[in-house]
Amino acid sequence: MRHFLTLSDMSPDELQWIIQRAIELKAMHRRGEVYEPLKNRVLGMIFEKSSTRTRVSFEAGMAQLGGSAIFLSPRDTQLGRGEPIEDSARVLSRMVDVVMIRTFEHADIELFAQYSQVPVINALTDDYHPCQLLADMQTYQEHRGSIQGKTVAWIGDGNNMCQSYIRAAIQFDFRLRIATPEGFEPDADIVADAGDRVELVSTPAEAVKGAHLVATDVWASMGQEDEQQERMKKFSAFQVSPALLDLADKDVVFMHCLPAHRGEEVSEDLLDDPRAVVWDEAENRLHAQKALLEFLLCQEEDS
Ligand code: CP
Ligand code: NVA
Repeated sequence: MRHFLTLSDMSPDELQWIIQRAIELKAMHRRGEVYEPLKNRVLGMIFEKSSTRTRVSFEAGMAQLGGSAIFLSPRDTQLGRGEPIEDSARVLSRMVDVVMIRTFEHADIELFAQYSQVPVINALTDDYHPCQLLADMQTYQEHRGSIQGKTVAWIGDGNNMCQSYIRAAIQFDFRLRIATPEGFEPDADIVADAGDRVELVSTPAEAVKGAHLVATDVWASMGQEDEQQERMKKFSAFQVSPALLDLADKDVVFMHCLPAHRGEEVSEDLLDDPRAVVWDEAENRLHAQKALLEFLLCQEEDS
């Protein structure tokens, strides 16, 4: 039984398998092929934060694979009334085949996984968003081929997405340059894990020089709403625009996990720039997570 809490839970070969499988499942879906390896399987989805893409892609993905999904929110389950995580994990994992969790503390999902009898998928914590990286890596592969040896620039907050890009740099073997305002750097231990693959720089221009992929995210993540005004000031020099992309490699692509705030981390016109691949990236959440679900749920049958 395997969990997917960060990209480090899979080997580079396994991640490559998932990306290739996501591309195949996408083609099968486009052809209208019915493929239902997860018939009668159920995904429990615990959302302690809002979501559009993650909820719809997991729910639609399970339906397309022949299974079903149950949406659980703390507002109307005992999770919101203080039932311990350990107890919730023991109970839910006796009823469903796989659990997906979006929450605040990364330690909470680790605790849930420790007591779960079924695979647990991280659908975003304050520290990591590995499912988004599966979609981003699939999208790069589809548009430009292998990312191995390429240069990626992360601009903005050293947040859960940035830290997932650091894990991806290790697993997919690319160079990562990170430009954040002072005081908003990613966790130093996570940076250290990546060794010389990751470099912290002080300006977006330095980060994007020659980059093949440029990515950013909101300046204030879910749970940081109180800091929005202060962050708007501190991040003002970290907006990604078509002019910034002009400093990158001529074949650069731009990604954003979405939702995006036009006029803040992205200029008003950036998502309409031909170098932006954000809609393909969003769609690939569906295909990449179908491949992940198949990997986690079908491997016992195959072995
Ligand atoms: N990118 C992403 O995870 O989007 P949602 O918050 O809408 O799920
Ligand atoms: N960093 C953002 C990502 C949203 C998908 C957040 O945590 O709110």
